[in-house]
Amino acid sequence: MNLKGKDFLTLADFSKKELLYLLNLASRLKQDNKIGQTHHLLKNKTLILIFIKPSLRTRASFEIGIQQLGGNALTLKQDEINLGIRETIADTARVLSRYADGVMIRTFAQSDVEEFAQWADIPVINGLTDSTHPCQVLADLLTIKEHFGELENLKLTYVGDGNNMANSLMTGCAKSGIDVTIGCPSGYEPDSVFLEMAQNFAQKTGTIVEVENDPQKAVKRANIVYTDVWASMGQEAEAEHRKEIFKPYQVNDELLKHAGDDVIVLHCLPAHRGEEITRQVLEKYADIIFEEAENRLHAQKAIMASIM
Ligand code: CP
Repeated sequence: MNLKGKDFLTLADFSKKELLYLLNLASRLKQDNKIGQTHHLLKNKTLILIFIKPSLRTRASFEIGIQQLGGNALTLKQDEINLGIRETIADTARVLSRYADGVMIRTFAQSDVEEFAQWADIPVINGLTDSTHPCQVLADLLTIKEHFGELENLKLTYVGDGNNMANSLMTGCAKSGIDVTIGCPSGYEPDSVFLEMAQNFAQKTGTIVEVENDPQKAVKRANIVYTDVWASMGQEAEAEHRKEIFKPYQVNDELLKHAGDDVIVLHCLPAHRGEEITRQVLEKYADIIFEEAENRLHAQKAIMASIM
C-alpha cells in the first residue's frame, strides 16, 4: 500500500482497504511501542502543527508520535502566525513546504485546510475542522476493532449534536462496515451533504446510516454508544440554550438500558460530566474511553508513517 504524499483531510478520500491498512499499521506500532521496539520510520523528518483552536490530545499525540518515529515537531499557534490574516493561506502553505515534510492543521473552516493542501507540496493532515475530525475517528475505529475483534456486524449510535464528530463517524463507519445511527434533536441533524455522502458509502458496504430523533430508539441494539460535548469550540455562547435542548440526549444509565447487552461507551473527550454523559457512565467505561484517547497516538503514527 503506497500512500506517500497523500493528504489526510477526510476519511471519504480513503478506501476501506486503505483504512484497514492504516488500522493494522497502527496496531503493529502500538504493540511494538508497548515492548519498547522503536521504528524510526520518519527519521529527521519534521511535522509542523498549526493550531487555530485549542487542543490537548491532538497536540500531545502528534508531537510525541513524530518523536517516537524519529522525527521532530514544530507547533505554531494562531497568535504567532495569524493564518489567513498576516498573509494568504496559499503563501503560508508554500513557505512551510520549503521547511517541513508534513503539516497538521486544526482550524474552523474545512475549506481552509483544503486550500492549504492545494498549495502545499507536502502532505497535509486535518487535525479537526468545524466539519470533520478524521484523526479522532481513525483512533475510534482502532478502539472498536480492538474491543470487538472486527468492524463488521456492529451498530454505533452517536448521541448528541450532529457536529464534526457525527460527520466523520458516519463516513468512517459507513466505509468500514459499521451501521450508524445519529440520535439528535430535530434541527441538530448532521449536514445533509455528509449524511448523503455517508449513505452512498453505506450502500457500497451494505451498511445503514440513519438519523433518529428519539434517543431511546436511536440506541436500540447499539454495540457502541458515542457522545461528544453539546457545544463545540466556537459555540460557547449557545452553551446554556443547548443544555436544555440536549438534556434528553444525555448518555446515562437509563438510556443505556435500551442499548445492546454488550454495549461500550466512547467519548472523544474533553467530557463535560453531568451534561452529555453522567459521571457514573464515564467512570464505568473509563478504561475504554482512555484507551480511545491513547489510540490517537497510534493511529496518527500510522497516518504520518504512511503519508510523509
Ligand atoms: N478529541 C480531541 O481532538 O481532543 P483535543 O481537542 O484535546 O485535541
